[in-house]
Amino acid sequence: MPNIGRLRTQAPVHRIDGHKGIMSRLLAISVVLLSIILLAACSESTENKPIVIKFPHVTAKGTPKGQGAEKLRMLVEERLAGKVIVEVYPSSQLMNSDDSLEALAFGEIQMIAVSLSKFDRLTRKFMVFDLPFLFRDLKEVEAFQNSPTGQNLMSVIADKGFLGLAYWHNGMKQFGGPVPILRPEDGDGLKFRIMESDVLEAQIIAMGGNPQKMAFGEVYQALQTGAIDAQENTWSNNFSQKFFEVQDYFTESNHGYLGYLLAVNPSFWNGLPDDIRTELERIIAEVSAEVNANAWAVNQQAKQKIIDAGTSEILQLSAQDVATWRTVMKPVWDKFAPEIGSEIMAATPAGHSN
Ligand code: LMR
Repeated sequence: MPNIGRLRTQAPVHRIDGHKGIMSRLLAISVVLLSIILLAACSESTENKPIVIKFPHVTAKGTPKGQGAEKLRMLVEERLAGKVIVEVYPSSQLMNSDDSLEALAFGEIQMIAVSLSKFDRLTRKFMVFDLPFLFRDLKEVEAFQNSPTGQNLMSVIADKGFLGLAYWHNGMKQFGGPVPILRPEDGDGLKFRIMESDVLEAQIIAMGGNPQKMAFGEVYQALQTGAIDAQENTWSNNFSQKFFEVQDYFTESNHGYLGYLLAVNPSFWNGLPDDIRTELERIIAEVSAEVNANAWAVNQQAKQKIIDAGTSEILQLSAQDVATWRTVMKPVWDKFAPEIGSEIMAATPAGHSN
């Protein structure tokens, strides 16, 4: 009896429990199913979400770098549609070059094309590109960059968070100033804006000038207000930054090289799916070849526009002037060559002429 009673009393309870059990099991199953569906939807949407490559830079759209960045953006849009988006921010609108070095290392942006001159805190080897009158023209620079030494140089700062994928030319630099700068001593007492580079600092000191390291985006105003007197840059930068409005003279000195390391953060790059990285590498090779092939002409067109503006006089160096410059700049080479290293120096025109 007690058993029956227990059964009796237990029976309805059991029924109720059973009903509740089915309900709660159904509920649990629905929750699990719903979670699976949601998870699948989420992972699908993450998978479908394009990889964003933020690419800020400091020059105008019409410069070699501006054109290269835009071409890269377009080819990625065409060939990796829905998978990768390149967001280009030209003209220092997102950040200056120094800040972009830091932002790349921290993974806040994914691609940069910063002047080789601005890497000297990360490697002393890149100082080779700044040595005055070392490379006579872009062809000589290219021969060095394409040599095994030049190619190895692109990855020397990978362990510091910068993997070089390509060199992009801007062009050869020209001096601009309030007076004609034909010989080194013409720079005596002038305040020159320079990029963040110890070699460029030594170059201006060798001229008797006063070097001021300054961000690119600040140069026009500094020239306009007289905070600086003179500067050095390529024709395309002199034109697109309107330096010709505030510089009475330019010397076609071709005294130094301005080029960029197109670089990515190695952990970002190596974390990309293989097929995407391979396609990006193909696009970068194509764009880099085009940038470098067009750079000279882009600069010549900019020079012509400065001539057409008629606001500044353009001067040429004689062979004798060049010889004087080379003699005055030799101590700058001697000062930095040991840090750059003999293997690198040997692959430059200085090494070939020895
Ligand atoms: C400069 O600061 O003068 C250049 O690095 C600007 C540029 O990126 O061409």
